Amino acid sequence: MSETYYVRTFGCQMNKHDSERVTGLLRSSGMTPGTTLDSADVVVFLTCCVRENADERLRGQVASLKSVKTARSGGQLIAVGGCIGQRDGERLLEQLPHVDVVFGTHNVAHLPALLEAARSARRPVVEVLDQAAEGFTSDLPAEREHPWHAWVPITVGCDNFCSYCIVPHVRGRERSRPLDSIVSETSALVAEGVLEITLLGQNVNSYGRDLYGEPRFAEVLRAVAATGIERIRFATSHPKDLSDATIEAMAELPAVARSLHLPAQSGSDRVLAAMNRRYTAADYVSLVDRLYAALPDLALSTDIIVGFPGETEEDFEATMALVERARYDQAFTFIYSPRVGTPAAELEDPTPREVVQERFDRLVARVQASALEKNRALVGTAQRVLFTGVSKRDASVLSGRTEGNKVVHVPLPAGSSAEEWRGRFAEVRIDEAQTWFLGGYTLEA
Ligand code: SAH
Ligand code: SF4
Ligand code: F3S
Repeated sequence: MSETYYVRTFGCQMNKHDSERVTGLLRSSGMTPGTTLDSADVVVFLTCCVRENADERLRGQVASLKSVKTARSGGQLIAVGGCIGQRDGERLLEQLPHVDVVFGTHNVAHLPALLEAARSARRPVVEVLDQAAEGFTSDLPAEREHPWHAWVPITVGCDNFCSYCIVPHVRGRERSRPLDSIVSETSALVAEGVLEITLLGQNVNSYGRDLYGEPRFAEVLRAVAATGIERIRFATSHPKDLSDATIEAMAELPAVARSLHLPAQSGSDRVLAAMNRRYTAADYVSLVDRLYAALPDLALSTDIIVGFPGETEEDFEATMALVERARYDQAFTFIYSPRVGTPAAELEDPTPREVVQERFDRLVARVQASALEKNRALVGTAQRVLFTGVSKRDASVLSGRTEGNKVVHVPLPAGSSAEEWRGRFAEVRIDEAQTWFLGGYTLEA
């Protein structure tokens, strides 16, 4: 019987993309997917260290495998990669001595060889590189989670050094992938039947600065749309770099989903400056106004950090005002957590934890009200939905995503099976709006 693997992924879409490559690599080296963490012969963790709780969850899960590993006669190989692997390298083995392989963000392709080396040497192997050992991981074999969707990285790394953020320290400087390589991968995906791609980068809007001397993201959108791909998403957009050319391209190209993730982080100019975000709340609001003017049906989402060191009630009120003004469809809200090695981790933070928590709760309530309001405005409209499967709670209900990336539940039309709808676009009339999902019925069979 062939060996089995289990891959557990934390963190952002970059890691999800790497995770599909890791799975593809293990498959092509002859292994088959295992069903649980405990029973698999090889376990791979792709980790995130952007916030403390992500960091702790990983440690907890790896630690819990220790007894499983000793109890198994044939043993189990445990590999830890991704951003914690990159950051901690050898140090991980001091804390988690039962780990067999530590790898980083720049050498995913080496994983099968590292596992083999650890197995034959019967001791842990660590390989963490400062620079990419390979081109973009897209060149590696992939085992995609959904046949109709693919992640397409266009940049890796980040040059922004927001003062709270660990990403530039674990992903390195920003490097753009040549445009022809992005286009040829997308064309190949279209030929394979992929309907939707997500262009990935920590800051897609600065795409091309290193290669061409100027950002050329709008050009990427046009070139990718010309391949005939049905739907294009992208993340993440830094507000300081989102150009009018990009807004124009979004408005002009029907394949680009009317959906944008535009992290604001804060609405206070003082805090934004301390975060090194390099825009003001007024810049952000004016950008949002231009976006809604060009794309009236845009679904807008954001990331907000509450409790940055020294945040006052006034700063927080400015964030609440910005959230109200931006009319978000969704917001990912985070309580600030210091990351060793970042400048913000050195700042004094006099605000008591309960005050931060209370602000966080107020923010979440406002975000929910905003999401519900945006969803209610969609009742009665027709939306183009990509069906992804059935509802987790009820197999007679189809679920899918609108252009705005909202979950939609639709009763399975009589006489059809869920399989016929999975990975297919259809028009849906919306007749129900909740905070986190919509309801409707199909307008075509
Ligand atoms: N490149 C993207 C996302 C980076 S990480 C961007 O620039 O938006 C995703 C989100 O995690 C960030 O947008 C931020 O809101 C949050 N985050 C990053 N570091 C954090 C920290 N130290 N504490 C709390 N939240 C943090
Ligand atoms: Fe982190 Fe800022 Fe880069 Fe985003 S833009 S990855 S928040 S440093
Ligand atoms: Fe986390 Fe690394 Fe992404 S730290 S957010 S997985 S780049």
